[in-house]
Amino acid sequence: FKGSNGFEKIILTEARGVCAEVYLYGAHVTSWRNEYGEELLFVSNKAVFRPPKAIRGGIPICFPQFSNQGILEAHGFARNRFWKVDDHPEPARPPPDKACIDLLLKPSEDEMRIWPHSFEYRLRITLTPGGNLILTSRIRNVDSKPFSFTFAYHTYFSVSDISEVRVEGLETLDYLDNMKNKERFTEQGDAITFEGEVDKIYLSTPSKIAILDHERKRTYVIRKDGLPDAVVWNPWDKKAKAMADFGDDEYKHMLCVEAAAIEKPITLKPGEEWRGKQELSAVPSSYCSGQ
Ligand code: BG6
Repeated sequence: FKGSNGFEKIILTEARGVCAEVYLYGAHVTSWRNEYGEELLFVSNKAVFRPPKAIRGGIPICFPQFSNQGILEAHGFARNRFWKVDDHPEPARPPPDKACIDLLLKPSEDEMRIWPHSFEYRLRITLTPGGNLILTSRIRNVDSKPFSFTFAYHTYFSVSDISEVRVEGLETLDYLDNMKNKERFTEQGDAITFEGEVDKIYLSTPSKIAILDHERKRTYVIRKDGLPDAVVWNPWDKKAKAMADFGDDEYKHMLCVEAAAIEKPITLKPGEEWRGKQELSAVPSSYCSGQ
């Protein structure tokens, strides 16, 4: 399919109307809908779907650098490059009736100039019959020297009202506060709630994190593998106003919880491969009570 900007996008569909949409630009998931046709990801009304900026919302891929922790542009270049459909995926493609797409990014000459490391990045995006969305990244060093990177699936979840949302699974953990020069703190008390701007990198988190949206009676569950950290971000009103591709009040309806590898960069020797997976599900809250 072609998106409204003329760029190619792929639509994954499953039974009962569950579907997802992926742009080759950034290998960016921009939509994930449940069986009731409800959108589960947030995408800004002001998002720009063309280079050089990444699409504001959905699931940007941050690689090979998270945020501004290095010499590259913020969050690296994978999110604003054109990926290719991978015709020879590894492992082999599942049967053709599976809602699944394999994408591939290899560095161009331009990228080699700014980040001189030869890699093959394979991303498999799968929608399960139950409606879960799985992203599996495999990054291989095809160079003759080692390289290191940081990484995040920068997922923007759609929420009814940020003030009514809580996050479970991060309480009592250590975090680096991006708003306080990356100083290290320990989270106190209960589940995390939101009353202002938040920009924190939680370290060595459990593999399961839940976002409870009381008003919508929906719980998002993130299950991650190979991704020890988790970023929680909401820009709140002031930062929202400062972003050209984000509506002034949209911060009320989104929350980023990002499965990530940041504190300890991943290092790959020549020939080595890294795998980082996240599986997202969205379930009615009543089914989750007591978890
Ligand atoms: C988050 C970072 O992951 O992404 C924030 O922790 C940053 O510091 C946010 O502001 C958005 O980044 P960008 O580059 O998409 O505007």
